Formats: sequence, C-alpha cells, structure tokens
Amino acid sequence: MFRSDCLQGQSGLITGGSSGIGLAMAKVLLAHGASLTITGRNQEKLDLAQKELGERVMTSAGDVRIAEDVDRSVASHIQQYGKIDFLINNAAGNFLCPLEKMSENAFRSVQDIVTLGTFLFSKAVFPHMKQKGYGRIINIGATYAWGQGSYVAHSGAAKAAVLNLTKSMAVEWGPAGILSNMIAPGPIADTEGMKRLMADPSHAKRLISLMPVQRMGEGAEIGRAALFLIHPTSSYINGIVLPVDGGMSLITPGLIPAGFGPQN
Ligand code: COA
Repeated sequence: MFRSDCLQGQSGLITGGSSGIGLAMAKVLLAHGASLTITGRNQEKLDLAQKELGERVMTSAGDVRIAEDVDRSVASHIQQYGKIDFLINNAAGNFLCPLEKMSENAFRSVQDIVTLGTFLFSKAVFPHMKQKGYGRIINIGATYAWGQGSYVAHSGAAKAAVLNLTKSMAVEWGPAGILSNMIAPGPIADTEGMKRLMADPSHAKRLISLMPVQRMGEGAEIGRAALFLIHPTSSYINGIVLPVDGGMSLITPGLIPAGFGPQN
C-alpha cells in the first residue's frame, strides 16, 4: 500500500474529472495527499463532484477542444497552487457506430476531444513543468489503441494517436524532467463509457467470459495505476503504455467482436 501522505504537497489537474474514471482517479489521488483541479464541460456536474471530493479540489469548466478554455484552466490551477506536478488527460468521447454510418462531424468530435484535447492540455502545462524541472503526464488511452477499434473506430484512431503522442512527449520532454506515460484501461464498470459501449448486456457477459480476470475493472484500480506513475519513486518510467485490463488485451485486440456490432 502507498502511504496516505505520499502525494502531500503535490497538485495536479484531471480533465474529465467529474465522473467515471476521472472521478475515481481523483478520489485515489486525494486520499494520498494531492490537491487537484478537475475540469469538465458541465459546471453542475463539476459542483456535485467537488461536493463529494472535498476542499482540496478546485473546478474549472471548459472544453478540452478549445485552446482558450484549456489555457484558462491551467492558469487558474497555477494561480491557486503555484505549480503543476501532474496532468492526467482523461477527457474522452465515445459511442458505438459502424464506420459506414459515422458522420464526418462524429469522427471529428471524438478526434478533437481525445487527440487535440490531450495535445492542448499537455502543451499548456509544459512551460510550468519545465520551469520546475519536474512533471508527470498521464494520458488515458485504451487497449484497442494498438489493435483495432471496430465499431468505435473514431476512438480507436484517436487513442492510437494518443499512444504515439505519449511516446513523442516522453522523448521530447524527458530532458525537461517531464515523464509521460499512457494507461490503457480495460472495461471499467459503472462508467459512461461502458453504458455506451456495452449497453447490450449479452456483449458484456460474453466479453467477461473471455477475459482472463473474469470481471470488469473498478475505477479505483485505474486510480491506483495513476498513483503508481505519479508517485515520486516512479522516477525512471517514461514513454510506457500500462494496460490495466485484467489481461483483456491478450485475448482480444479490440472491444467488440466482428458480427457483434450495433447493426446486428
Ligand atoms: N451515433 C452516431 N453518431 C453520433 C452519436 C451516436 N451514438 N452520438 C453523437 N453522434 C454524432 C452527432 O450526430 C454529430 O454528428 P452530426 O453533426 O453529423 O449529426 C456528432 O456526433 C457530434 O455530436 P454532438 O453531440 O454535436 O457533439 P458534442 O461535441 O456535443 O459531443 C460526443 C461529443 C459526440 C463525443 C458526445 O457523445 C459526448 O459529449 N461524449 C462525452 C461523454 C463520453 O462519451 N463518455 C465516454 C467516454 S469513454
């Protein structure tokens, strides 16, 4: 177990931190002493999350796709805490859709949230981390980033881009003391993502029956992986992809098997 004060004095920002995996990560990091800014598009959802998380959390409403919003969130974090030790690029958008039915705007929306959002936030924190000679960036990817993303091809393409971006950041920003890594979560129970992607209970049941660890993950399990990568002792880990998926990516290179898409 990690000491409950191991992140004392550290502050970080989690995009999409008001629900799902983002909220679960926030709880784990707060329980270990960190202070946080959480971002999201919906101020009401942010307020509810802040109420649940407590006083060491600041909220900043905005859209990860809009550079002005991103810069404002980072500036208010710096104003409040004076520095930024870690950034978790977690905000995502996803839905099941066969490629031939996917509109240009649908494809673009997910690319922009996932890929552009990760780029914009990482670029915005870079000068602050560089100035301190210290920073940890965690990008939340997906196991299908290196396989195929059938029926979530917009997300698959975006998560593959994030995987590559993670490695480029690791190399370009390593000399500045900034370590960049990607966590690839498997299916995590009770999240917006699973509601959208596994709405058909027979799909979830089939996937779980194939998985080496025969259950979905919990948000806290992703939170503890983030804690591990942020922890001061993880000082020589840079540019990795850490699957936290109960071994799912060993048995399926995607999420939805052929023939089990939404049109069937
Ligand atoms: N199937 C097919 N197309 C869909 C869709 C679905 N289930 N949901 C949205 N779209 C399309 C819309 O029709 C629109 O395309 P169009 O203009 O050609 O009609 C396009 O996607 C953008 O949708 P819109 O709702 O206008 O964009 P947005 O920027 O407000 O929302 C999304 C972004 C689409 C990703 C939305 O699903 C979202 O906000 N998701 C955030 C939460 C989430 O996905 N969490 C899970 C993360 S794993």
